[in-house]
Amino acid sequence: MIFLAYNLAFFILSCAVLNISALDNLSKGSCLSVEKPENVLISPNRLFFAGFHPVGENAYSFAIWFAKPLCYSNCNLVWIANRDSPVNGRLSKFCLQGNGNLILTDANQFTSWESNTASTASSQLILRDNGNLMLLTDSDEILWQSFDKPTDTLLPGQPLTKHTTLISSRSKGNYSSGYYRLFFDDDNVLRLVYDGPETSSIYWPDPWLLSNEAGRSRYNDSRNAVLNSSGYFRSSDQFMFRAADFGLEKIRRLKIDYDGNLRLYSLDENLGIWVVSWQAIFSSCGIHGTCGPNSLCSYDPRIGRVCSCLNGFKIKNHDDFSLGCEPEFELSLNKSELTFIKVSQANFYGYNINVTRNTTLKRCEEICLELHNCVGFWYRYKKEDGVHFCYAKRVLRNGSIPPQSTSDMFIKMPKNFKNHVSGKLIKNCPSKPNIERLSRTYVKKHGSGSIEVLLWFTIILGGLEMICMSSVWYFLSRSKKTVMHQYVHVGTGFKRFTYSELKKATKNFSEIIGEGGSGIMYKGVLADGRVAAVKKLSEAIKCEAEFLAEVSMIGRINHMNLIEMWGYCSERKHHLLVCEYMENGSLAENLCSNTIDWEGRFEIAIGIAKGLAYLHEECLEWVLHCDVKPQNILLDSNYQPKVADFGLSKLMNRGGGNESKVKFSKIRGTRGYMAPEWIFSLPITSKVDVYSYGVVVLETVTGRRLDMSVKGNEMGEKRMINWVREMVSRGDWIEVMDPLVNGEYDKDKMELLVRIALKCVEDDRNARPSMSRVVQMLLGNEGPMP
Ligand SMILES: *[C@@H]1O[C@H](CO)[C@@H](O)[C@H](O)[C@H]1NC(C)=O
Ligand SMILES: *[C@@H]1O[C@H](CO)[C@@H](O)[C@H](O)[C@H]1NC(C)=O
Ligand SMILES: *[C@@H]1O[C@H](CO)[C@@H](O)[C@H](O)[C@H]1NC(C)=O
Ligand SMILES: *[C@@H]1O[C@H](CO)[C@@H](O)[C@H](O)[C@H]1NC(C)=O
Ligand SMILES: *[C@@H]1O[C@H](CO)[C@@H](O)[C@H](O)[C@H]1NC(C)=O
Ligand SMILES: *[C@@H]1O[C@H](CO)[C@@H](O)[C@H](O)[C@H]1NC(C)=O
Ligand SMILES: *[C@@H]1O[C@H](CO)[C@@H](O)[C@H](O)[C@H]1NC(C)=O
Ligand SMILES: *[C@@H]1O[C@H](CO)[C@@H](O)[C@H](O)[C@H]1NC(C)=O
Repeated sequence: MIFLAYNLAFFILSCAVLNISALDNLSKGSCLSVEKPENVLISPNRLFFAGFHPVGENAYSFAIWFAKPLCYSNCNLVWIANRDSPVNGRLSKFCLQGNGNLILTDANQFTSWESNTASTASSQLILRDNGNLMLLTDSDEILWQSFDKPTDTLLPGQPLTKHTTLISSRSKGNYSSGYYRLFFDDDNVLRLVYDGPETSSIYWPDPWLLSNEAGRSRYNDSRNAVLNSSGYFRSSDQFMFRAADFGLEKIRRLKIDYDGNLRLYSLDENLGIWVVSWQAIFSSCGIHGTCGPNSLCSYDPRIGRVCSCLNGFKIKNHDDFSLGCEPEFELSLNKSELTFIKVSQANFYGYNINVTRNTTLKRCEEICLELHNCVGFWYRYKKEDGVHFCYAKRVLRNGSIPPQSTSDMFIKMPKNFKNHVSGKLIKNCPSKPNIERLSRTYVKKHGSGSIEVLLWFTIILGGLEMICMSSVWYFLSRSKKTVMHQYVHVGTGFKRFTYSELKKATKNFSEIIGEGGSGIMYKGVLADGRVAAVKKLSEAIKCEAEFLAEVSMIGRINHMNLIEMWGYCSERKHHLLVCEYMENGSLAENLCSNTIDWEGRFEIAIGIAKGLAYLHEECLEWVLHCDVKPQNILLDSNYQPKVADFGLSKLMNRGGGNESKVKFSKIRGTRGYMAPEWIFSLPITSKVDVYSYGVVVLETVTGRRLDMSVKGNEMGEKRMINWVREMVSRGDWIEVMDPLVNGEYDKDKMELLVRIALKCVEDDRNARPSMSRVVQMLLGNEGPMP
């Protein structure tokens, strides 16, 4: 409750940046309170804020963040005082004491962080235009500054020195200290190291290169590196780089991300997004420890790194792939019950028990069976020696499929288990989100004992107002002891709305903007001024907990080509979803009115493909869209497409039973866009979306709409597909292209797009490419058509 209230307050605060009552400075004896979101320091140029920022459920850190782009609870933090010991959302304070010490107290009880400064002179805490939080005396002497204690980010002008280190966050939503560090090593060379609980290894510059081969010098021991305001980075070991947009005065930040890569971001102020303008490591599978044991790393420059569990293994923590995967089986000691499963072309680097030269596959299996601690082996043909080598492994780490690999990996598992898994590697996704929250003991939600303590505490400490607030909160936390509390969203600004809030926002559901199988969509204006699309789900939701779990999962999906979900409402029979509103309407409307030129159409085809590829492949295999059609593709102000309505197929179709397979209790989708699998009751996979995508692309190119009113309507799209096929086989491309674009199009690109679309609408689902393959082909980055 309080957390959500805070979020809202935070947002309103950010919206009201310009007439804010924020402070310019903090003088001796004054404090910033966690309970007052308007209690922030602001830099004179209004680019930076310093104050309490939520980092978990009822967990806050004192941080500095960018005021741009507008953010409310997942801002880009550039500095954190107490990343490893967040404080409570009540009674915590950040104070400049009379003795010159900066102190952050947790719930008035413990010291979470302090600057350990002392000064008798009068002094002030000021947030500078460059993002530096400085404790200055009246004579401008620096007592303390945040630039000396970086967390994971360097700002332009902030030096990295022999005394400072950048340490990554633990994971995407966890700001505490992670395992990756950027620092000057003993030999004066700037390096990236993975310093995990079990292993530690340098991965940048490439460890097998000598410093001078990597272009580094060991001879300058001043150990200093700095990014200047025009995007040039220079280090005393002679390493340097410049931003892709160098020369321009842009807002930039250099950050060691939680995945271990060092990236320079530049703010595109028009679009309001951060773009990567440099990164240290191109293929992030080269970063150690990222995927954890028993998993494979693969890299796609557009989607980024993907970790996937080996077949027969399940992910340990969905939020943190560095913990890897764990086996779903137990290895018996009885050799005759064990067997091996092949993972083609894979390699797991290191951790060999022994290496045997010139072996057969049979012999290699025997070696691994004999060794109880052997979990699998790498069977490799070495060209130089002309024989096979057998590498028996005790741990499966550093897994990847190197390009042009000809050697296979064999994983040990019980014979009776092997039947459960097919012969190929699969992406292993948890069917339920596993959201772990940082929760401070002080206000454990089910521990009514500690709440009582809190009550007494506040009675003693606070005034009347305090007592009222806590009792209301106490009452709420008692009365709503339902499962929903476990799924409160953190770090994304995702919010639970009340029905009356949404009723008000949509003016009693007066303006309908769309209608689909899953419900009616209304336009609304939220209390904070954002224009939203509110969808009222038409079908009854049987299981509340599952609804919340899944909505919360959808809320975490974040991609530029997917509609962002801002929140939901679940009250008795009312179930609503709140999403961003797109002013340019749907692709369907735009095709009708011919507002998009050829370039735009091609971009839209790529955008939809990227969005769907993300849904299918970012280890969220369960998110099949199942209803891709022009009505569900919305266009933003730049006519970039955003796919809407995803995740609903799962939400509305819990058939129970097998968790790992989506079971569809009834056919979903829209006639004309439905793959033949639905009609023939074949297994439903992500290829159903590929089919629908193909139809949408054909419509987009030809400008012909499926005419569903014609009798025999299920054949509507078939007729179009056959017609396009015929035109293509005749080489009659001009006929295919929408006459409304007046012949202004790139013939090569158009042919490519149509050929890909025809692949996508093959009846045989195995003949259809995956969505990520479609993206690759459209971007022309991967060879000819298969
Ligand atoms: C500190 O803030 C006070 C009140 O906002 C203001 O009067 C004063 O000039 C500020 N001092 C500095 C050094 O900015
Ligand atoms: C940043 O460094 C580059 C290269 O050393 C230099 O050309 C440029 O003038 C510098 N920019 C500023 C603003 O100092
Ligand atoms: C060492 O590096 C610093 C900072 O980059 C530079 O100012 C200094 O001239 C260098 N010293 C030598 C001996 O190259
Ligand atoms: C992975 O491989 C590297 C060598 O490329 C090795 O140094 C490292 O210890 C291995 N293990 C992990 C967990 O990174
Ligand atoms: C090992 O398993 C096989 C087949 O399950 C069984 O016949 C045999 O008795 C077992 N051996 C031992 C030592 O348990
Ligand atoms: C590896 O271990 C197996 C099983 O103990 C043994 O038969 C083989 O000789 C060992 N190979 C080497 C090179 O030590
Ligand atoms: C490999 O082993 C086989 C049988 O043990 C032997 O005949 C062959 O000469 C060996 N090859 C090499 C290159 O050592
Ligand atoms: C963040 O990571 C730290 C260190 O691994 C862990 O102790 C803490 O519980 C994590 N917080 C959350 C919210 O998962």
